[in-house]
Amino acid sequence: MNILTFPTDAELNEAGAGIITGLVQTKPNAVLGLATGSTPIGIYKEMIRTFRKNMVSYKQATTFNLDEYVGLPASDPQSYAYYMKEHLFDHIDASPERTHIPSGTAADPEAECKRYDALLESYGQIDLQLLGLGHNGHIGFNEPDHSLIRGTHVVKLSDQTRDANARFFETPERVPTHAITMGVGTILKAKTILLVVKGADKADIVHRALTGEITTECPASLLQTHPHLVVLLDAEAGRHFR
Ligand code: F6R
Repeated sequence: MNILTFPTDAELNEAGAGIITGLVQTKPNAVLGLATGSTPIGIYKEMIRTFRKNMVSYKQATTFNLDEYVGLPASDPQSYAYYMKEHLFDHIDASPERTHIPSGTAADPEAECKRYDALLESYGQIDLQLLGLGHNGHIGFNEPDHSLIRGTHVVKLSDQTRDANARFFETPERVPTHAITMGVGTILKAKTILLVVKGADKADIVHRALTGEITTECPASLLQTHPHLVVLLDAEAGRHFR
């Protein structure tokens, strides 16, 4: 595990984008696992900046997003499909046929999970999986539980996660109750995992996840078992690592 702490947000974003673009520069057909939420926005901005300088092309890359809300169509500004277009895909040359996100409006969400897993399987392995961290230790939408599911599945969102994400919705009631998420097994199968954590409110949970007991009650703690885990922290989130 390689834990790097950055004094400023700009330096963290530059480092995160540098790791991703560096991979795509050396392996143009890389398979990237991508995340949403507020954490990666600065990294995506930096990736766009590098792309505009003609330093990298995503034409041959494939992307798989971690998750999507059940019930939200891609046209809904709160959907993760919309987020990805707004924050990254509309600004780089990624091929739409190779940017994959679970469908939130599939008539049969369980079948959609199977389709997504089969597609992931057909690519073998994700080269680099970008992750944020939930306040309760979730990764993707794998919530703390007595056991965790390996593959892509439908999950009922915890009240804590719905509250945390309410800031993106008009009213808290509009936060969907369910999501489709890649499972922890799929996440851990990635060759390299890039965990990014920002903010004082996540200092305790990131410390617990990376140094505490490995338990499904803190899904991110399973990342300790991964042989190639890179963690980028801002000064606030990295408070306990100094
Ligand atoms: C998003 C995702 C979530 C977020 C986590 C942190 O695709 O899978 O696990 O990474 O909820 O969210 P932010 O970055 O908004 O604090």
